[in-house]
Amino acid sequence: VATWPVSEDGDGPTPAAPHYRLLAGPRDGRAETLAAHRERLGPLLEALGRRQSSARIIDLVRRSGLQGRGGAGFPTAVKLDAVSKNAGLARNPVVVANGSETEPISRKDRVLLTLRPHLVLDGIEVAARAVGAQRAFLVTPWGAPEAAAAVRVALKERAAHLPGGLVPEVVTGSPAFVGGEETALLRWLEGTPPLPRFGPPRPFQRGWRGLPTLVQNVETLANLALISRFGADWFRSDGTDDEPGTTLVTVAGSATRPGVYELSIGTPLRRLLETAGWSPTSSALLLGGYFGTWVESQAALGALLSRAGVRVLGASSGAGIVQLLPEGACGLKETARLATWLALETSGQCGPCVRGLPAVAGAVSQLAQAHSVPQGLEARIGQWCDDIEGRGGCHHPNGFVNLVRSSVAVFAPELELHRRGRCSGTVTAGFPLPAHHRERR
Ligand SMILES: Cc1cc2nc3c(=O)[nH]c(=O)nc-3n(C[C@H](O)[C@H](O)[C@H](O)COP(=O)(O)O)c2cc1C
Ligand code: SF4
Repeated sequence: VATWPVSEDGDGPTPAAPHYRLLAGPRDGRAETLAAHRERLGPLLEALGRRQSSARIIDLVRRSGLQGRGGAGFPTAVKLDAVSKNAGLARNPVVVANGSETEPISRKDRVLLTLRPHLVLDGIEVAARAVGAQRAFLVTPWGAPEAAAAVRVALKERAAHLPGGLVPEVVTGSPAFVGGEETALLRWLEGTPPLPRFGPPRPFQRGWRGLPTLVQNVETLANLALISRFGADWFRSDGTDDEPGTTLVTVAGSATRPGVYELSIGTPLRRLLETAGWSPTSSALLLGGYFGTWVESQAALGALLSRAGVRVLGASSGAGIVQLLPEGACGLKETARLATWLALETSGQCGPCVRGLPAVAGAVSQLAQAHSVPQGLEARIGQWCDDIEGRGGCHHPNGFVNLVRSSVAVFAPELELHRRGRCSGTVTAGFPLPAHHRERR
């Protein structure tokens, strides 16, 4: 399990992370206790004001500019508002804290839940207050018993010392890659297989068991807990005007100090890479995880870590993942492995996933083989990607297309080598490829 980085003496933030907000707390890898949490931040309800209305909380969040940290960056206040309006009609809204973290490289949500469970639990309380919910779920990642244990201990502490608070039901998330998608997650919580559901109605209208449901990533909720205590101006004092706050980023692959880092949004990517012990011999990095975009390392050095900053590279930061390709690894071979895995991780409900993804993955596997690259194969892959993009019930095919397109562009020199019957690959990158969920159910 990756953890957050510490300085030489084992205490205090590293230079790349001078603004610890979410990862402030004990440095021994154990969860912050309720007593330490309250000593650091003060009690939540007093900060919130016992009579703080839904409208005032939503206005506060709107002014803070908080955007979702689960990948899409959607404005949190808009979702709170939508659920609260639907709750006014239907009552009994539900809050779901999405800590599924189904992206195999990501570690940020499990680290957050393991180290600062009370911050996430506070965020659930604030969100519930904002939308008028009496019921909540907290989803912990599959295969992360330490995160679930920290949450359960935290709930026991709250039951003993903060009676009367909202007690979320703790549920282990689905192992399926698409299982973290919000509609798939709602099905999982209803006890059925995690298949994405095509809207409308969307979860804010009819979600868990038909009730208006707010689904927020756990990092988003942790920020909500801080905003409700320290206000919108405080939140905006970090990050950029368009993307305020800090963000958690998982750095993996060929770095000497891989881990989960907290950064001001807008921090130069170079600073993160240097702090994480990046090797300049790494030719490329994958930004945004398996749905992400390959970027040449030298180009990435000049970018800022924000949605707008990486857009310049044609990339999206997704849920904050930077995977470094090790020296000696063939980017096309690595992409072929990922594409083949992703093609088997669909929910099998839509044409593009059932027919398109396996075909493209097969073609990328051909590109990855030296000696046998047919002429015009990249053009065919490009055409298929155009056909697939935007046509699924969820964003799975779009993420897949991102990965494949960027690999063909960034690894063009490698492809030329393959055409000449050679390959620069001498090692494999070791990207984690969990067993497919169908086998595990
Ligand atoms: C295939 C797929 C997988 C996803 N996995 C996750 C996940 O593991 N955790 C998460 O918070 N959001 C995930 N999302 C995004 C959720 O659908 C949803 O947008 C998010 O939980 C909303 O929270 P936010 O607004 O706080 O970001 C995924 C989306 C897709 C398309
Ligand atoms: S696009 Fe793919 S992953 Fe998404 S719902 Fe359709 S089949 Fe499932």
